[in-house]
Amino acid sequence: MNTAFSRRFCVAPMLDCTDRHARHLMRLISRHAWLYTEMVTTGALLRGQPERHLAHSVIQHPVALQLGGSDPAALARCARLGEDWGFDEINLNVGCPSDRVQGGRFGACLMAEPALVADCVAAMQAVVRIPVTVKTRLGIDDLDHDEHLHRFIGTVAASGCRTFVLHARKAWLQGLSPHENRTVPPLQYARVHGVKAAMPHLEIILNGGLTDLDAALAAGAGLDGVMLGRAVYDSPWLLAEVDTRFYGDDRTVVDRVAVIEAYGAYARAELAAGTPLNALTRPLLGMFNGLPGARAFRRHLSEQVCRPGAGWSVVAQALDPWRAAPLSA
Ligand SMILES: Cc1cc2nc3c(=O)[nH]c(=O)nc-3n(C[C@H](O)[C@H](O)[C@H](O)COP(=O)(O)O)c2cc1C
Repeated sequence: MNTAFSRRFCVAPMLDCTDRHARHLMRLISRHAWLYTEMVTTGALLRGQPERHLAHSVIQHPVALQLGGSDPAALARCARLGEDWGFDEINLNVGCPSDRVQGGRFGACLMAEPALVADCVAAMQAVVRIPVTVKTRLGIDDLDHDEHLHRFIGTVAASGCRTFVLHARKAWLQGLSPHENRTVPPLQYARVHGVKAAMPHLEIILNGGLTDLDAALAAGAGLDGVMLGRAVYDSPWLLAEVDTRFYGDDRTVVDRVAVIEAYGAYARAELAAGTPLNALTRPLLGMFNGLPGARAFRRHLSEQVCRPGAGWSVVAQALDPWRAAPLSA
């Protein structure tokens, strides 16, 4: 198994979730999982203050910047910024179905415009050395058959993209909310495997509905990798076995309290720089999920962080019961 810098296990881009703090925490749990930023639109990035969207701690690699946009020149400028800020990959969002995104003519609606997506990829790849990849759906509306999917991927691949993340369901552009578009259209893993069979030279990553590592290993067999979103955000400790099970690296972390304390060193520096406490505690909420006491931990953090003058000691207090009864699982 080639364990160096590989997308065998990816954590999905999630708006308002996979911010730089959550990614820092994730990296303390898994050395290898491939991380993605939230989607950043070209408009937001080019309006100014790129550091607001691009700054991240040095430990986060490998980490990809996900962009939203459909103007090749703007995307190229953003890709360059991403490379300059040290990202390891630029990923184009061709999967988001929200109205706002459709209004900007990007996200999932771009599945109807393979030539434009190819132009976007080519424009980005022309100005960066890091890989440019695409995250997409199986289809949109009535364009939901393998003939179109394979044509879409073939066209974009011809422009220089060799890695595709496939969210294994279609999106309805009208009538469903983004949330419903992540639950209502049925998952179709076999169609993802069909893409790999038809274009084995491409790196194909399967995403959607994977709730644990057993499911991920089973669904990803024969593919190049898997991507998990909600399961990891809700229970970040799920990453603790990723290095062993996906990368053959036995140097796993075993102690949640030690991880949170290591995160505390980062968090204190962030607090001193003006980051709000709740932005730093949010990624921690699910750290004990599945264990008795998890709810009390979550409640303690949620209630205490908003109190005037609250600081990192709120987290230290929430950890007290877990220090008294150390956990290895
Ligand atoms: C809160 C939330 C925000 C999301 N934001 C993005 C995003 O910024 N870019 C993107 O490509 N997908 C986004 N997604 C979709 C996820 O990347 C992923 O494709 C989807 O959740 C299915 O994977 P899962 O079942 O493992 O969660 C988001 C999903 C959630 C739940």
